[in-house]
Amino acid sequence: MKQILIVGIGAGNPEHMTVQAINALNRADVLFIPTKGEAKSQLAVIRRDICDRYVTRADGRVVEFAVPVRQTTGRSYDQSVDDWHAAIAQSYQRLLLEELAPDQTGAFLVWGDPMLYDSTIRIVERVRALGTVDFDYSVIPGITSVQALTASHRIPLNLVGKPVQITTGRRLAESFPGLAETAVVMLDGEQAFMAIDDPEAFIYWGAYLGTPQEIVLSGRVIEVRDEILKTRAEARARHGWIMDVYLVRKGADFDA
Ligand SMILES: C[S@@+](CC[C@H](N)C(=O)[O-])C[C@H]1O[C@@H](n2cnc3c(N)ncnc32)[C@H](O)[C@@H]1O
Repeated sequence: MKQILIVGIGAGNPEHMTVQAINALNRADVLFIPTKGEAKSQLAVIRRDICDRYVTRADGRVVEFAVPVRQTTGRSYDQSVDDWHAAIAQSYQRLLLEELAPDQTGAFLVWGDPMLYDSTIRIVERVRALGTVDFDYSVIPGITSVQALTASHRIPLNLVGKPVQITTGRRLAESFPGLAETAVVMLDGEQAFMAIDDPEAFIYWGAYLGTPQEIVLSGRVIEVRDEILKTRAEARARHGWIMDVYLVRKGADFDA
Protein backbone atom coordinates (compact mmCIF):
# COMPACT_ATOMS: atom_id res chain seq x y z
CA MET A 1 0.00 0.00 0.00
CA LYS A 2 1.15 3.55 -0.67
CA GLN A 3 2.25 5.48 2.41
CA ILE A 4 2.05 9.24 2.96
CA LEU A 5 4.13 11.10 5.53
CA ILE A 6 2.88 14.54 6.55
CA VAL A 7 6.10 16.06 7.86
CA GLY A 8 6.32 19.23 9.94
CA ILE A 9 9.49 21.02 8.76
CA GLY A 10 9.58 23.92 11.22
CA ALA A 11 8.81 27.58 10.71
CA GLY A 12 11.69 28.84 8.58
CA ASN A 13 14.98 27.77 10.13
CA PRO A 14 16.25 24.51 8.55
CA GLU A 15 17.63 23.66 12.01
CA HIS A 16 14.05 23.35 13.27
CA MET A 17 13.98 19.96 11.54
CA THR A 18 13.68 17.17 14.11
CA VAL A 19 15.54 13.87 13.81
CA GLN A 20 12.15 12.23 13.27
CA ALA A 21 11.40 14.62 10.38
CA ILE A 22 14.83 14.03 8.81
CA ASN A 23 14.36 10.26 9.02
CA ALA A 24 10.89 10.61 7.49
CA LEU A 25 12.22 12.55 4.49
CA ASN A 26 14.81 9.84 3.97
CA ARG A 27 12.11 7.16 4.03
CA ALA A 28 10.22 8.89 1.22
CA ASP A 29 10.60 7.83 -2.40
CA VAL A 30 8.94 11.09 -3.46
CA LEU A 31 9.05 14.49 -1.77
CA PHE A 32 6.10 16.74 -2.62
CA ILE A 33 6.94 20.46 -2.53
CA PRO A 34 4.19 23.05 -2.95
CA THR A 35 4.97 26.20 -4.90
CA LYS A 36 3.00 29.30 -3.98
CA GLY A 37 3.73 31.74 -6.78
CA GLU A 38 6.56 34.25 -7.21
CA ALA A 39 6.11 36.31 -4.05
CA LYS A 40 6.32 33.39 -1.65
CA SER A 41 8.91 31.46 -3.66
CA GLN A 42 11.27 31.85 -0.69
CA LEU A 43 9.18 29.25 1.12
CA ALA A 44 9.82 26.75 -1.69
CA VAL A 45 13.53 27.71 -1.52
CA ILE A 46 13.58 26.87 2.21
CA ARG A 47 11.89 23.52 1.54
CA ARG A 48 14.44 22.72 -1.21
CA ASP A 49 17.27 23.74 1.12
CA ILE A 50 15.91 21.32 3.74
CA CYS A 51 15.89 18.50 1.18
CA ASP A 52 19.44 19.35 0.02
CA ARG A 53 20.75 19.43 3.58
CA TYR A 54 19.09 16.39 5.04
CA VAL A 55 18.08 13.93 2.34
CA THR A 56 20.94 11.50 1.96
CA ARG A 57 19.29 8.77 -0.11
CA ALA A 58 20.27 9.20 -3.75
CA ASP A 59 17.07 7.88 -5.32
CA GLY A 60 14.57 10.26 -3.63
CA ARG A 61 12.58 12.24 -6.19
CA VAL A 62 11.28 15.80 -5.70
CA VAL A 63 7.93 16.65 -7.27
CA GLU A 64 6.87 20.28 -7.17
CA PHE A 65 3.19 21.08 -7.54
CA ALA A 66 1.20 24.28 -7.80
CA VAL A 67 -1.28 24.88 -4.98
CA PRO A 68 -4.69 25.96 -6.33
CA VAL A 69 -5.60 29.57 -5.50
CA ARG A 70 -8.57 30.15 -3.17
CA GLN A 71 -11.51 31.76 -4.97
CA THR A 72 -13.46 34.21 -2.84
CA THR A 73 -15.89 35.99 -5.13
CA GLY A 74 -19.56 35.22 -4.63
CA ARG A 75 -19.14 32.79 -1.74
CA SER A 76 -19.01 32.84 2.05
CA TYR A 77 -15.67 32.36 3.82
CA ASP A 78 -16.57 28.77 4.77
CA GLN A 79 -17.70 27.92 1.25
CA SER A 80 -14.58 29.45 -0.24
CA VAL A 81 -12.31 27.38 2.06
CA ASP A 82 -14.33 24.21 1.46
CA ASP A 83 -14.10 24.66 -2.33
CA TRP A 84 -10.40 25.39 -2.03
CA HIS A 85 -9.79 22.22 -0.01
CA ALA A 86 -11.75 20.21 -2.58
CA ALA A 87 -9.50 21.61 -5.34
CA ILE A 88 -6.33 20.80 -3.36
CA ALA A 89 -7.67 17.29 -2.67
CA GLN A 90 -8.03 16.79 -6.44
CA SER A 91 -4.42 17.88 -6.89
CA TYR A 92 -3.19 15.54 -4.11
CA GLN A 93 -5.20 12.69 -5.60
CA ARG A 94 -3.49 13.22 -8.94
CA LEU A 95 -0.06 13.27 -7.26
CA LEU A 96 -0.73 10.03 -5.42
CA LEU A 97 -2.08 8.32 -8.52
CA GLU A 98 0.53 9.55 -10.99
CA GLU A 99 3.70 10.09 -8.98
CA LEU A 100 3.66 7.22 -6.46
CA ALA A 101 4.06 3.59 -7.46
CA PRO A 102 2.26 0.94 -5.37
CA ASP A 103 4.18 0.37 -2.10
CA GLN A 104 6.06 3.67 -2.44
CA THR A 105 6.17 6.38 0.23
CA GLY A 106 5.55 10.06 -0.43
CA ALA A 107 6.14 12.97 1.95
CA PHE A 108 4.41 16.35 2.09
CA LEU A 109 6.66 19.00 3.65
CA VAL A 110 4.36 21.07 5.85
CA TRP A 111 5.34 24.48 7.20
CA GLY A 112 5.65 24.54 11.01
CA ASP A 113 3.51 21.77 12.46
CA PRO A 114 0.70 20.10 10.50
CA MET A 115 -1.81 20.50 13.37
CA LEU A 116 -1.66 24.30 13.55
CA TYR A 117 -3.62 26.37 11.04
CA ASP A 118 -2.77 23.93 8.29
CA SER A 119 -5.17 21.73 6.36
CA THR A 120 -2.88 19.04 4.97
CA ILE A 121 -4.27 16.44 7.39
CA ARG A 122 -7.90 17.23 6.58
CA ILE A 123 -7.18 17.34 2.84
CA VAL A 124 -5.41 13.97 2.96
CA GLU A 125 -8.48 12.62 4.79
CA ARG A 126 -10.60 14.07 1.97
CA VAL A 127 -8.52 12.22 -0.61
CA ARG A 128 -9.02 9.02 1.37
CA ALA A 129 -12.76 9.61 1.37
CA LEU A 130 -12.72 9.90 -2.44
CA GLY A 131 -11.79 6.19 -2.39
CA THR A 132 -9.73 6.29 -5.58
CA VAL A 133 -6.26 5.68 -4.07
CA ASP A 134 -5.44 3.06 -1.47
CA PHE A 135 -3.02 4.58 1.04
CA ASP A 136 -2.28 5.07 4.71
CA TYR A 137 -0.59 8.05 6.31
CA SER A 138 1.24 9.29 9.41
CA VAL A 139 1.99 12.73 10.82
CA ILE A 140 5.41 13.89 12.04
CA PRO A 141 5.29 16.98 14.29
CA GLY A 142 7.34 20.12 13.69
CA ILE A 143 8.38 23.35 15.40
CA THR A 144 5.55 25.88 15.04
CA SER A 145 5.79 29.61 14.41
CA VAL A 146 4.34 30.03 17.91
CA GLN A 147 7.39 28.29 19.39
CA ALA A 148 9.72 30.27 17.13
CA LEU A 149 8.04 33.49 18.33
CA THR A 150 8.18 32.75 22.05
CA ALA A 151 11.78 31.50 21.77
CA SER A 152 12.92 34.65 19.95
CA HIS A 153 11.26 36.85 22.58
CA ARG A 154 12.45 34.57 25.40
CA ILE A 155 8.98 34.37 26.93
CA PRO A 156 6.80 31.53 28.16
CA LEU A 157 3.61 31.08 26.13
CA ASN A 158 1.22 31.19 29.09
CA LEU A 159 1.10 33.06 32.36
CA VAL A 160 1.26 30.73 35.38
CA GLY A 161 -1.93 28.64 35.43
CA LYS A 162 -3.62 30.81 32.77
CA PRO A 163 -5.12 29.83 29.41
CA VAL A 164 -3.92 30.68 25.91
CA GLN A 165 -6.06 31.41 22.91
CA ILE A 166 -4.70 30.86 19.39
CA THR A 167 -6.68 32.80 16.85
CA THR A 168 -6.64 34.74 13.58
CA GLY A 169 -6.56 38.49 12.96
CA ARG A 170 -10.15 38.29 11.70
CA ARG A 171 -11.35 36.63 14.91
CA LEU A 172 -9.33 38.89 17.21
CA ALA A 173 -11.00 41.89 15.57
CA GLU A 174 -14.42 40.29 16.19
CA SER A 175 -13.78 39.37 19.83
CA PHE A 176 -12.64 42.78 21.10
CA PRO A 177 -12.69 43.83 23.86
CA GLY A 178 -12.83 40.36 25.41
CA LEU A 179 -9.11 39.69 25.11
CA ALA A 180 -8.04 36.47 26.84
CA GLU A 181 -5.05 36.78 29.16
CA THR A 182 -2.84 35.56 26.32
CA ALA A 183 -3.79 35.43 22.66
CA VAL A 184 -1.53 34.33 19.82
CA VAL A 185 -2.62 35.80 16.51
CA MET A 186 -1.76 34.20 13.18
CA LEU A 187 -2.81 34.88 9.60
CA ASP A 188 -3.49 38.54 10.35
CA GLY A 189 -3.80 40.38 7.05
CA GLU A 190 -5.53 43.34 8.67
CA GLN A 191 -3.21 44.13 11.59
CA ALA A 192 -5.93 43.65 14.20
CA PHE A 193 -3.52 44.73 16.96
CA MET A 194 -4.02 48.35 15.82
CA ALA A 195 -7.49 48.25 17.42
CA ILE A 196 -6.17 47.28 20.88
CA ASP A 197 -6.45 50.39 23.03
CA ASP A 198 -6.04 48.72 26.42
CA PRO A 199 -3.03 50.42 28.10
CA GLU A 200 -2.29 47.18 30.01
CA ALA A 201 -1.87 45.05 26.88
CA PHE A 202 1.60 43.96 25.70
CA ILE A 203 2.53 42.66 22.27
CA TYR A 204 5.37 40.37 21.16
CA TRP A 205 5.54 40.48 17.35
CA GLY A 206 7.73 38.55 14.92
CA ALA A 207 8.09 38.33 11.15
CA TYR A 208 10.09 35.87 9.00
CA LEU A 209 10.91 34.02 12.22
CA GLY A 210 13.79 31.58 11.95
CA THR A 211 15.02 33.06 8.67
CA PRO A 212 17.91 35.50 8.16
CA GLN A 213 15.27 38.25 7.65
CA GLU A 214 13.73 37.74 11.11
CA ILE A 215 12.40 40.91 12.79
CA VAL A 216 11.00 41.05 16.33
CA LEU A 217 9.46 43.95 18.21
CA SER A 218 7.73 44.10 21.59
CA GLY A 219 6.29 46.49 24.13
CA ARG A 220 3.05 48.00 25.36
CA VAL A 221 0.63 47.74 22.40
CA ILE A 222 -0.36 51.40 22.44
CA GLU A 223 3.32 52.42 22.45
CA VAL A 224 4.69 50.11 19.73
CA ARG A 225 1.77 49.40 17.40
CA ASP A 226 2.60 52.24 14.98
CA GLU A 227 6.22 51.11 14.78
CA ILE A 228 5.12 47.51 14.10
CA LEU A 229 2.73 48.71 11.40
CA LYS A 230 5.47 50.75 9.71
CA THR A 231 8.14 48.04 10.05
CA ARG A 232 5.72 45.45 8.69
CA ALA A 233 4.77 47.56 5.68
CA GLU A 234 8.42 48.36 4.86
CA ALA A 235 9.49 44.71 5.20
CA ARG A 236 6.59 43.54 3.08
CA ALA A 237 7.47 46.04 0.34
CA ARG A 238 11.15 45.04 0.51
CA HIS A 239 10.60 41.28 0.30
CA GLY A 240 7.35 41.24 -1.67
CA TRP A 241 5.67 39.05 0.98
CA ILE A 242 5.45 38.71 4.74
CA MET A 243 4.58 36.13 7.36
CA ASP A 244 4.10 37.47 10.86
CA VAL A 245 2.66 36.25 14.12
CA TYR A 246 2.23 37.90 17.49
CA LEU A 247 1.29 37.29 21.08
CA VAL A 248 -0.79 39.84 23.00
CA ARG A 249 -1.37 39.64 26.70
CA LYS A 250 -2.57 41.37 29.80
CA GLY A 251 -1.76 40.59 33.39
CA ALA A 252 1.20 38.89 35.03
CA ASP A 253 2.17 35.61 36.63
CA PHE A 254 0.40 35.06 39.97
CA ASP A 255 -2.28 37.71 39.28
CA ALA A 256 -5.45 36.85 41.16
C1 LIG B 1 -1.15 28.78 7.34
S1 LIG B 1 -0.45 29.25 8.87
C2 LIG B 1 0.65 27.92 9.13
C3 LIG B 1 1.15 27.80 10.54
C4 LIG B 1 2.16 26.69 10.70
N1 LIG B 1 1.55 25.39 10.48
C5 LIG B 1 2.83 26.71 12.06
O1 LIG B 1 2.95 25.62 12.67
O2 LIG B 1 3.30 27.76 12.49
C6 LIG B 1 0.58 30.57 8.37
C7 LIG B 1 0.74 31.61 9.46
O3 LIG B 1 1.68 31.15 10.40
C8 LIG B 1 2.47 32.22 10.87
N2 LIG B 1 3.88 31.94 10.52
C9 LIG B 1 4.35 30.79 10.01
N3 LIG B 1 5.67 30.82 9.89
C10 LIG B 1 6.07 32.03 10.32
C11 LIG B 1 7.33 32.66 10.45
N4 LIG B 1 8.46 32.05 10.09
N5 LIG B 1 7.37 33.91 10.96
C12 LIG B 1 6.24 34.55 11.32
N6 LIG B 1 5.02 33.99 11.23
C13 LIG B 1 4.91 32.75 10.74
C14 LIG B 1 1.93 33.48 10.22
O4 LIG B 1 0.94 34.03 11.08
C15 LIG B 1 1.30 32.94 8.97
O5 LIG B 1 0.29 33.81 8.50
